[in-house]
Amino acid sequence: MKNIVLTGAGGGMAKAMLPELAKLGYRLLLTTRAVDSLREHCEREGIEGQCFGADLTSDEEVGALFAWVEQHGGCDVLINNAGVAHAAASWKLEAAEMSRLMDINFLSAVRCTQHALMHMRAKGSGRVISISSVVAHKPSFGTSAYTASKSAVEGYMRGVAIDLAQKGITANTIAYGYMNAGMLHDVPEELLAQVKTTIPMDAFGRPEQIVEAISYLLGSEYTTGQTLHVNGGQWMP
Ligand SMILES: NC(=O)c1ccc[n+]([C@@H]2O[C@H](COP(=O)([O-])OP(=O)(O)OC[C@H]3O[C@@H](n4cnc5c(N)ncnc54)[C@H](OP(=O)(O)O)[C@@H]3O)[C@@H](O)[C@H]2O)c1
Repeated sequence: MKNIVLTGAGGGMAKAMLPELAKLGYRLLLTTRAVDSLREHCEREGIEGQCFGADLTSDEEVGALFAWVEQHGGCDVLINNAGVAHAAASWKLEAAEMSRLMDINFLSAVRCTQHALMHMRAKGSGRVISISSVVAHKPSFGTSAYTASKSAVEGYMRGVAIDLAQKGITANTIAYGYMNAGMLHDVPEELLAQVKTTIPMDAFGRPEQIVEAISYLLGSEYTTGQTLHVNGGQWMP
């Protein structure tokens, strides 16, 4: 059985995607900082996932994570999902704050991808999928830092795709719109109502629609270096 390594697995979107992800026929290797609560969640919901606790801003902890992944057979699919929202007017955004956001939203993906690629290159196959946001393409007020961090992820995936293009490994990004889970639930009601008016399909997305996009990328040998937009028509390239 092949392995999916999913980061940010304790988050709202990941938890909501787990039931559908579990149907794809992969062993789920899940990582979060809140490992006990994720284990309890999996037991309660009947999800067969192995859990490991790691802070992805730490080189050492990511090293320990991938040593554990190797003990389970290695990383065939990496989903770089960990990420945090951020809001600050750009004239108040200091470089140190930007640097902290880049550490979790961008460098965590770099750390994990580097480890995952060692296994994938040895096997001659693999999938790297990173999670970005419609906000990276259609920013709203106060999202300059978040937009920059997600744009970095997308650019990095394109570069990884080129490096691995002849090694049986693809690297892509899914930039999703406003999904009805996770950080969306932290957005004030009035703002959500206003955001909804900008979505042509007049609905927030459902987590299983992201699993459909993941499933497509798992099956596609010839799709690489792309950003797949799943956003109800809110932004079109
Ligand atoms: N929900 C949406 O509408 C939406 C839209 C577009 C893009 N996204 C993107 O989708 C991804 C998941 O978002 P979500 O809505 O599920 O948000 P969420 O509920 O806030 O989950 C974020 C996850 O990131 C993890 N994380 C944060 N800092 C970390 C660190 N230092 N080390 C390890 N893990 C860390 C959190 O881990 P802990 O459990 O350890 O705190 C949590 O599991 C993010 O990349 C987000 O930018 C979400």
